[in-house]
Amino acid sequence: MSEAARRASWRDLVERRLPEAARPGWPVRLDHCFARILLDHACGGPWRDHVRPPAYATLPLDQLEAAIALGEAVLAGHADLALLNRRSLAWRGKVAAAAVPESLEDGDLILRRWRPEDTAPFAALNADAAVMAHFPRPRTEAESVAEAGRFDRRFVADGFGPWALAQGGRFIGCAGAMRILQPLPFPGGDRPGTTVELAWRLAREAWGRGFATRAARLALDDLAGRCGIRAVVAYTAAGNARSRAVMERLGMAPAGTFPHPAVPEGPLRDHVLYRLDCADREDAA
Ligand SMILES: CC(C)(COP(=O)(O)OP(=O)(O)OC[C@H]1O[C@@H](n2cnc3c(N)ncnc32)[C@H](O)[C@@H]1OP(=O)(O)O)[C@@H](O)C(=O)NCCC(=O)NCCS
Repeated sequence: MSEAARRASWRDLVERRLPEAARPGWPVRLDHCFARILLDHACGGPWRDHVRPPAYATLPLDQLEAAIALGEAVLAGHADLALLNRRSLAWRGKVAAAAVPESLEDGDLILRRWRPEDTAPFAALNADAAVMAHFPRPRTEAESVAEAGRFDRRFVADGFGPWALAQGGRFIGCAGAMRILQPLPFPGGDRPGTTVELAWRLAREAWGRGFATRAARLALDDLAGRCGIRAVVAYTAAGNARSRAVMERLGMAPAGTFPHPAVPEGPLRDHVLYRLDCADREDAA
């Protein structure tokens, strides 16, 4: 389908199909409210902070596709529209943001909210081909700045997110949890908003010292306690042995494979999925 046709199908989705499908239990029924919720999620924050109106014309196509996929999940009854609406309103300061501790600590390893000075070292690790070997490509500086902002805004919306990691006073990467908000082809992943994934990414010089595993354990304690999250998943490209080893050290169980829809055809597309029930967490040594 052409780009113009995709942009037209977005307009049909928010201006006609979603308003027509609105049910009594839905928190919104007007076209601009559906557009707000879906566009905010495609941008990871208030969409007007990212693109100029009209969004149907100016939003990059990959983000518009993400907004369409989420809207289709809402229409199919697979996404929790009330949760998505609350997240969007929290970003806009219309409902109270979740209370979040300033940091979680394990000795010299600190998990904390993101700071402006983190963006330069974060951009450097995201530009490192070794760190990004299992991602489709390294990130540009602008993409890294945007990603750090999206990560931190997850704390506002959900009360948890990928923490910035500092060790010995230096930023070394990130680790934490994210609600899965784009439909993914595995049980739970196909219901955007309901499933929480764990993720980690460290600068190359911080590998091999247990920081990712220790950070994930701290994040898991916080998720299971303060946040009341009962189960998590983690996934990575099948060839990412280091990331799989972190999942196994955490006691996560392999739960099959799936083709990641956002990864182009090729050796990185096949992903392995792991699951952990927080109630019967039993960390491996
Ligand atoms: C995935 C990634 C975070 C794993 O890093 P890592 O350093 O291998 O994992 P950990 O920080 O848990 O460290 C484990 C290593 O430290 C050692 N270690 C030392 N102290 C340890 C401790 N207290 N606990 C656990 N391991 C410890 C382990 O023996 C292991 O050694 P090894 O490198 O010889 O296997 C890292 O490779 C990375 O950032 N990759 C790029 C980004 C990426 O692919 N992210 C995942 C995408 S889904």
